[in-house]
Amino acid sequence: MEILVINGPNLNLLGKRKPEIYGSATLADLETYLVEIGASLDISVTCYQSNHEGKIIDRLSEAFVGGTNGIVINPAAFTHTSYAIRDCIEAIEIPTIEVHISNIHSREAFRHKSLIAPVCIGQIAGLGFDGYEMAIRTLSKRLK
Ligand code: DQA
Repeated sequence: MEILVINGPNLNLLGKRKPEIYGSATLADLETYLVEIGASLDISVTCYQSNHEGKIIDRLSEAFVGGTNGIVINPAAFTHTSYAIRDCIEAIEIPTIEVHISNIHSREAFRHKSLIAPVCIGQIAGLGFDGYEMAIRTLSKRLK
């Protein structure tokens, strides 16, 4: 079983970017942690980060062709703007969970709306890196 974890724009800056909101751990720390969680569940976790909307869409389409079983996505700011990522997730019909490190509902008003959540199984926000782990565990239960 394969789960793809996608992180969107500016999440390459984790550890340096607003640590009071996003914490002090880096993207590499997060990805290492998620691969380990996957291994403990006998799941192959593949991680991808891009700052480009089109590249994220290309990676989602590749997942469809490649037979990926589940997707965990933190679309970052594209959460609030991207009809294209939403349409792609809807089109590929791979079970997907949306994750946010911060609680988008307690922050600026523009972050309260997700265009992506309606085409996902669910959304986890505000639990830091644990949200990604919970998403992987949930997909693993549902897919097995
Ligand atoms: C984020 C929340 C988004 O509003 C923001 O644009 C991000 C990160 C989060 O993980 O909390 O870049 O997705």
